[in-house]
Amino acid sequence: MTVLAVPTQPFPDQKPGTSGLRKKVPVFRQPAYVENFVQAIFDTLPERAGATLVVGGDGRFLNREVVQTTLKIAAANGFARILVGQGGLLSTPAASCVIRRSGALGGVVLSASHNPGGPEGDFGIKFNGRNGGPAPEPVTEAIYARTRAINAYRIVEAPDIDLERLGDVALGEATVTVIDPVADYAALMETLIDFPRIAALFAAGFRMRFDAMSAVTGPYAREILERRLGAPAGTVVNGVPLPDFGGHHPDPNPVHAHDLMALMTGPDAPDFGAASDGDGDRNMIVAPGLFVTPSDSLAILAAHAHLAPGYAGGLAGIARSMPTSRAADRVAASLGIPAYETPTGWKFFGNLLDAGRITLCGEESAGTGSHHVREKDGLWAVLLWLNLIAATGKPAAQVVRDHWAAYGRDYYARHDYEEVENAAAEELMAALRGTLAALPGRRFGDLTVEAADDFAYADPVDGSVTARQGVRVLFREDARVVFRLSGTGTVGATLRVYLERYARDRLDAPSTEMLAPVVAAAEAIAGIAARTGRTGPSVVT
Ligand code: G6P
Ligand code: ZN
Repeated sequence: MTVLAVPTQPFPDQKPGTSGLRKKVPVFRQPAYVENFVQAIFDTLPERAGATLVVGGDGRFLNREVVQTTLKIAAANGFARILVGQGGLLSTPAASCVIRRSGALGGVVLSASHNPGGPEGDFGIKFNGRNGGPAPEPVTEAIYARTRAINAYRIVEAPDIDLERLGDVALGEATVTVIDPVADYAALMETLIDFPRIAALFAAGFRMRFDAMSAVTGPYAREILERRLGAPAGTVVNGVPLPDFGGHHPDPNPVHAHDLMALMTGPDAPDFGAASDGDGDRNMIVAPGLFVTPSDSLAILAAHAHLAPGYAGGLAGIARSMPTSRAADRVAASLGIPAYETPTGWKFFGNLLDAGRITLCGEESAGTGSHHVREKDGLWAVLLWLNLIAATGKPAAQVVRDHWAAYGRDYYARHDYEEVENAAAEELMAALRGTLAALPGRRFGDLTVEAADDFAYADPVDGSVTARQGVRVLFREDARVVFRLSGTGTVGATLRVYLERYARDRLDAPSTEMLAPVVAAAEAIAGIAARTGRTGPSVVT
């Protein structure tokens, strides 16, 4: 078999963002676009000779083609062993798991997460390192620098691998092993979660619906929920990964998972509802008639984690992203363990997890995870919920209400203003930053500002400082509003306004009613309508 060195020209736009290189499919279909980027990743890995690499993706349109190309370039670049998920599939948390278990140098993960797929949809390539987590900024910077200078890529000239047949096959000097994408992940779950207890719950008639949203978690959920835990066939819906996710937006929230929401709020609601996103790292939890906010879910999981075998020894600490509600902090305080507040972005949890400072972490954007991998993990969160329901013997909604009764409730909502003109959004944030010093002591309705700042994070492990991560306004009445611009939007700017209000006694009021004064204060402070021309948010979650 021959290894070709193919001359190429740099593309100017291969700068990885928050989660790797994410672009529209037609961009990736340009000749040499994928080859250049994959070669640039490998060029930053001098230790690759003789090493192991993991490859897999969320099954979206172009996944198989890019898997084949990646395998051939990896084989031409000195990797000795390449593990690839059957059918080219690996959920993001499973990729993280396989990298860690196999001692691989890293993995190439193909995904655009919860963004729509298909020929006109999105595609993405990212590199995860040895610890199984997304490459840190210095590495992505080095990859980007390499894409600007690249003049050739190396590729093995060979027919495509049969991605369906499990086992070893030679590719140039390398051995490609097609692995069951679920096996390692399911084995890891069995060490963390009390499977026999959950199986007993299903055997006793407990019913749930898991909506895989025609994305990658279908095979994982079927194997674990229906086969290993004995949930009835049909528990997992939309369980076959489709290249275009059935035309849907695979983002598990009440807006996009509307079928699940309709079921869970209707007369035939099963005992529990859950969903996961395109690549399987996000989760949504719904009790009958009650959507559990991701912020509450993190707090509830933290308060009950000791009921699962993997966490029986207790938690070292808990971290949440800054805009995530403070519900998890209350649990940390009562457990007497540290609580960390990090900027938005899963990568900020990596150091805390690697250093053993935290066991659980989560974000308001539907991500929850623990030290078991270095990505957020949708199905894991669902299994931990099932574990706590089985162990407490309480219905899901009761778990939530009892939690509020014990800790108080952090009413929470996020208002997104999408496709705002960039300049208007920047000006709004600049004006907000300009008023910070004058805010303390000012009254807005029945709320008085206690403190206001622009969040900066000093990483306690490596000392690095990340500034300007969002404006926080804290009110004396234990309410809070946070303003920040999304780092993941693709068109114009997205202004996110995170609203919360803590209540010790009023636990069952409508969220909108409890938050109305905070919404009014946010408008008065930021002048959103005047600056953006919008009278209301485009999306409320
Ligand atoms: C991705 C990241 C998360 C982040 C979310 C929202 O899912 O992995 O860490 O919380 O995007 O980010 P944004 O900047 O759009 O609010
Ligand atoms: Zn995702």
